[in-house]
Amino acid sequence: MRTTKRVLNIIHIASEVDPLSKRGGLADVVESLPKALKALGHDVCLFTPLYGSIDRQQFHLQNIKNDIPLKIDATTSVSFHIWKGELPSGITVFFIDNHEYFGRYKTIYLSEEGSIADNARFLFFDLAVLKVIIELNLKPDILHCHDYQSGLVPYFLKYRFRKSKFFKNTATVFTIHNLVFQLGRNWWEVPPELKDDGRLKLPLMTAVDQISAINFMKRAILTADMVNTVSEQYALEVLTPEVGQNLYRLLNSKYDTGRFIGIVNGIDYNEYNPETDPGLFRKFSIDTLQLKQENKIGLQKMFRLPLNPLIPVIGSTSRIAEQKGFDLVMRVVETFAHLPLQLILFGDGGREYISFFKNIARRYPKKIAIQPFESQDETKILAGSDMFLLPSRFEPCGLGQLKSLRYGSIPIVRATGGLIDTVTNYDPRTQKGNGFVFRSYNSKHLLVAVVRAMENFKYAKEWNALVKRGMQLSFSWALPAKKYVKLYRHALHVKNGSDAVDVYSENT
Ligand code: GLC
Repeated sequence: MRTTKRVLNIIHIASEVDPLSKRGGLADVVESLPKALKALGHDVCLFTPLYGSIDRQQFHLQNIKNDIPLKIDATTSVSFHIWKGELPSGITVFFIDNHEYFGRYKTIYLSEEGSIADNARFLFFDLAVLKVIIELNLKPDILHCHDYQSGLVPYFLKYRFRKSKFFKNTATVFTIHNLVFQLGRNWWEVPPELKDDGRLKLPLMTAVDQISAINFMKRAILTADMVNTVSEQYALEVLTPEVGQNLYRLLNSKYDTGRFIGIVNGIDYNEYNPETDPGLFRKFSIDTLQLKQENKIGLQKMFRLPLNPLIPVIGSTSRIAEQKGFDLVMRVVETFAHLPLQLILFGDGGREYISFFKNIARRYPKKIAIQPFESQDETKILAGSDMFLLPSRFEPCGLGQLKSLRYGSIPIVRATGGLIDTVTNYDPRTQKGNGFVFRSYNSKHLLVAVVRAMENFKYAKEWNALVKRGMQLSFSWALPAKKYVKLYRHALHVKNGSDAVDVYSENT
């Protein structure tokens, strides 16, 4: 019998990777999961587009092949180049370089709200990746695709490369990091006559309207050998019409056949480590917790807030957007400004949100501060704050709360998605729980959670014990990476016996 301990050759495909191109948590996962898989002994590399913003010299990229022709369809042929680089973790990265689609843009996506042109860009990218894998003879066991931007990879593999001997033993895994983003534009804004049912052949590249309507995520769910999302709770939530939106039936059918599961993300415990983090004002550990105060004072200076070690500082590092619950924060922030606390918002977001919070920060400069997100300062906020705010409307996983626990900042979250899997409500009587949780999506409930946190903060001994317990929890990749390996082996199993499985039994 064949041993199941075989080393796997895994290729990750994604539109973001930290530190080259980061918009959100996706980039963190794409950087740190491959590293954890490599540590388990597997061969791992990744593919991503070469955006105009990536500095080839800074990252020592090498140009390995030029002018590779790619016939997308009867109307459109393009050519592209391949570059190769290495992440700090030693993972090899291949870059698809094409000026028209990527090089001329400084941003990853063409607009904050999504763009109809992004579909064409990522359709090209997905096909180019498959071509390069053959060209470089990479022989993958697994193509692990992240979010909609790489969603046509499983589709192409299943149809266009159906007869390819090269991919005969290659299985596909598709990870949903956020079901709201299914294609370059908002799925609910696609006119009914253009809606993609996922089954028809792809339109020609010259049919711009139809191209812009391709639902990458739907096609990925339909065709990938295994599908997963980034927490167990969110996996259950997307089976309901409210959270699963237009795809909940499809996800149910995948779930019923054992081909859709949830795996909670981890974070890199070496990178996010208050004992060694060079980005902090002062390093600290559970044994030197008093040094965390110096980070608090440093943060208050950085945001020009009154220097006061006793006032609770609440930090936030997420996108200032509705998904993250900032419409709730808007409704109670005026009340926050009258409480003995300081609120630091470190994030980007929609124009209306930002101007609202900038305005309130101008009115209450001693209480509220806001600055755009800067990766290199993220852990300063976590280390310097006492509490971490993430009142999400929905949250596939959320990484901020995992990082905040590591830096001794207690999460205040709403019970949804991955936040349920990772944060439990603190009960001062039993001293159980690692954060402050509220249930219904309601600003008063958020306010109550914040006040509860502030009340508990007054009891220094118990609070420090809560902080230490949080710092000792383990949300590293060690366990989730093993679950992914299991998922990969299962995907190979599905692929080998998949001819009989009809993934199109769904009729939405
Ligand atoms: C997306 C989700 C977030 C998740 C991250 C990484 O940004 O919104 O919840 O943690 O992807 O999987």
